[in-house]
Amino acid sequence: MKIFNTLAMFGILLTTGAGAQTTLKDACKNDFLIGAALNESEFTGQNSNAVAIIKTQFNTISPENVLKWESVHPRSGEFDFTAADRYVEFGEKNKMFIIGHNLIWHNQTPRWVFQDDQGNPLGRDALLARMREHIFTVVGRYKGKINGWDVVNEAVNEDGTLRESQWKKIIGEDYLLKAYQFAQEADPAAELYYNDFSLENLPKQNGAIALVKKLQAQGVPVAAVGLQGHYKMDWPTTNQVDETITAFSKLGIKVMITELDMDLLPAPTRNQGAEVAMNFALQAKLNPYTNGLPDAVQQKLAQRYADLFSVFVQHRDSISRVTFWGVTDADSWLNNWPVKGRTAYPLLFGRDYKPKSTFAAVIGVVHQ
Ligand code: G3I
Repeated sequence: MKIFNTLAMFGILLTTGAGAQTTLKDACKNDFLIGAALNESEFTGQNSNAVAIIKTQFNTISPENVLKWESVHPRSGEFDFTAADRYVEFGEKNKMFIIGHNLIWHNQTPRWVFQDDQGNPLGRDALLARMREHIFTVVGRYKGKINGWDVVNEAVNEDGTLRESQWKKIIGEDYLLKAYQFAQEADPAAELYYNDFSLENLPKQNGAIALVKKLQAQGVPVAAVGLQGHYKMDWPTTNQVDETITAFSKLGIKVMITELDMDLLPAPTRNQGAEVAMNFALQAKLNPYTNGLPDAVQQKLAQRYADLFSVFVQHRDSISRVTFWGVTDADSWLNNWPVKGRTAYPLLFGRDYKPKSTFAAVIGVVHQ
């Protein structure tokens, strides 16, 4: 639906009765929570321009990195909650729905976690004890403060099989069940999520559906699935997104778009995923917009976001939250993945902290 061209043509930014520009959280208030992943300069208040956007536009926040294992539990027996406490304080002070990301992942988990003091691989029981200590300490610390947790992140392969992570290799498939049981025991009121990328591709989608169904059969109250939403301009199609939301909703759980951004730069590979291990050398052809985005590309980006949000609004009864993976284009991990040093334009606010035409396009769709 070419909603965006109309708005762009007249440069209309919808305003409230009081004449103030409509905000994302106001426009989405009858649909879903809307938020962003924050970095340390934002939740500590250092980046005041970004903080102004966060407070005005969003009602939920996620931690881009500071609640990951390597940050809060850097060495055996040593926890460091300095940054994580600041993140949670920011969320409480601004009455945000606070997300915890993430407890168990194959990335950003220090090597020592899987080894004994001599550097030999741990056995099942020892690693389960370490997992339990981590989850009870971290979830327990923020009991009643963090509203929902990405308990396990990215456990499924593209073909739908379980990822052969150290967690699975050492503990076995029931590492998933144990992680969710520990999280539920540590804070029975917190929502428990499964979060992954590329769930719009059927083989992986079916693998994740099987994973959630198995957890449900084992008595785990999975509250929602997180479709990360690291999208491209031509993938996934709006039909794929529509069908994916429908498929997971049939499990009786909510759907969240947890890490939404749009990679419009030339891809060095056909891979659609968000495997952080991938990295390619910087070349001019992979980084064409170092001096700003041409209007024609800006319009295509705005239309892409409008089309996606049209699908999200159609599924407003199933979607509980939409979170962007960053506040402004300058924050985005896509400036350094899969090519370090790119100039990316994946979000709704530019490097000047001003709303891009993508912002008006989204408001124009959800505001109806
Ligand atoms: O903390 C170190 C710092 O001490 C060091 O000086 C610096 C120099 O390289 O690196 C810093 O660590 C970086 C870390 O972010 C914290 O800033 C790592 O290099 C960098 O690789 C890491 O990237 C994060 C990525 O996850 C790594 O897995 C991105 O910021 C973060 O946006 C991204 O987020 C993930 C989600 O958690 C899960 N879904 C996919 C998404 C994108 O990969």
